[in-house]
Amino acid sequence: MIKMIELPYPIDALEPYYNRETLDIHYNILYKGYVDNTNKTEEKLKQARETKNFENIKCLEKDLSFYGSGAILHELFFENMGPAVPSSPDINLMEQINKDFGSYEKFKQQFTESSKVVEASGWNLLVWVPNFKRLEILQCEKHQNLTLWGCKPLLVLDMWEHSYFLQYKTKRPEYIDAFWNIVNWNIVNKRFINK
Ligand SMILES: [Fe+2]
Repeated sequence: MIKMIELPYPIDALEPYYNRETLDIHYNILYKGYVDNTNKTEEKLKQARETKNFENIKCLEKDLSFYGSGAILHELFFENMGPAVPSSPDINLMEQINKDFGSYEKFKQQFTESSKVVEASGWNLLVWVPNFKRLEILQCEKHQNLTLWGCKPLLVLDMWEHSYFLQYKTKRPEYIDAFWNIVNWNIVNKRFINK
């Protein structure tokens, strides 16, 4: 059984950049759904093994990837946001950003532009790729498609419409601009150190 993470700040703490109503629905209903469905899928997989009935195995393993990745990405998302307190990439992460993207501004521009063009429902991610020993930015479709195997997500931005429509309607660029004000770099720095 996986469990929901606690929201690390009050439900209205990200105002005005991310409003209370959006966060409430996103955390308490949508994220909860991914956690619940991951657990239901694990239970069905257990039943399949016990009954030796694997006729739904293809569907169940696809569900596990979708719901499980949805749960994981939402945890990362809620934790890599925070009230608008000063924080920035630390010296270790900044060195790597400069090395792999040229500068912080170039990284930020690529991440912003990349977020704008995520197709349909998906995510934008800053990841560490151990096999390449470098940072990359990836657009993820749904919750599980278009990854580099083994990569570690450091900073994730939910680009599903449910993440911004209530507050920003179709204005994706405004949502992305607002996100930069509530990135909790302290968490991102820790993820990079523990990569
Ligand atoms: Fe979401």
